[in-house]
Amino acid sequence: MADDIFLRDLWYMAAQGASVKRGAMRRTMLLGEPVLLGRTKAGEVFALRDICPHRGVPLSAGRIMDDATVECPYHGWRFKTEGQCALIPSLVGGEAIDAANIRVRSYPVREQDGLVWVYMAAAGHESAIPNADPPRVPVPHAVPRWSVSQTFACAIDHAVIGLMDPAHAPYVHGRWWWRVKPRVKEKRYAPLPMGFVMLRHAPTKTAYKLLGGDVSTEITFELPSIRFENITGTLFRRPLAVTGLTACTPIDAQTTQVTQIFYWPRWLGFIRAFFWAMGPTFLSDDRRMVELQREGLKFDPRLMLIQDADVPAMWYHRLKKAWAEHTETGTPFVNPISERTLRWRS
Ligand code: FES
Ligand SMILES: [Fe+2]
Repeated sequence: MADDIFLRDLWYMAAQGASVKRGAMRRTMLLGEPVLLGRTKAGEVFALRDICPHRGVPLSAGRIMDDATVECPYHGWRFKTEGQCALIPSLVGGEAIDAANIRVRSYPVREQDGLVWVYMAAAGHESAIPNADPPRVPVPHAVPRWSVSQTFACAIDHAVIGLMDPAHAPYVHGRWWWRVKPRVKEKRYAPLPMGFVMLRHAPTKTAYKLLGGDVSTEITFELPSIRFENITGTLFRRPLAVTGLTACTPIDAQTTQVTQIFYWPRWLGFIRAFFWAMGPTFLSDDRRMVELQREGLKFDPRLMLIQDADVPAMWYHRLKKAWAEHTETGTPFVNPISERTLRWRS
């Protein structure tokens, strides 16, 4: 679909697993579509289009039955988690209609690393099996230790670009305990299967010193909108890995949910205090800026991307274009990015 503004045939981070309770369901919006996210009483997560095919009532307003079907609150039709209608209570037998032929769209769902991923297929690909897995958090036994999630009043692109843009930090996040005098940065980037990585380097910010003397970090970005910061260090002579995941999930064309989740080994529990103090501040800073930006975007101005600080944003646009072509034409996806060093002052 050429006029679809969202990338399809990809996994989107829809929720944290812990927020989807057993035997409960809720309505969420993903890519402008109403999606029922639920968990059966047996513990299985599932996602259905949140519109009853009978008369359009949100299925999420109904209930989950013991046999893991969802019962619509209007006429009691029941649907299996894979979408097939299992029961139409008003039928007496002998009618021409067969419930088994009625379906509500079901979305492929994967729960891993404490996250619920939903696969959003392109039109015409709805019944295809996803040909890739959702991204994995690259730490063993990944358990979310700290998270923050905020709704940004902006299109996905502005949320993503705002998060990968290195030049805004001194202005938007400039606080005494985080600020270092702007200086020339030089970072090496390389392509990844679905994006790119700022290769491992020693971070300049003092806050990283909390994680030991030999701290290094790499920052990855992959389609549709998943950023990992993978920090390693040695603390109390123990090697440690801390991963920060930032996921931008489009709710609709003008609203984006931005979620940051940190993973660290259990024994590192004391760094939680640091996140409580700082985490929400950072995301709020970014959110405020996209809200301000909206005041300008109302007038549909021409915008600019400049070398080298905006090059990751250019890459993002190129990746999107290549992926959209891939889903539209079925030709293999070719990552348009090649290895490069970027320089900027921040
Ligand atoms: S609207 Fe859902 S069963 Fe009638
Ligand atoms: Fe930021």
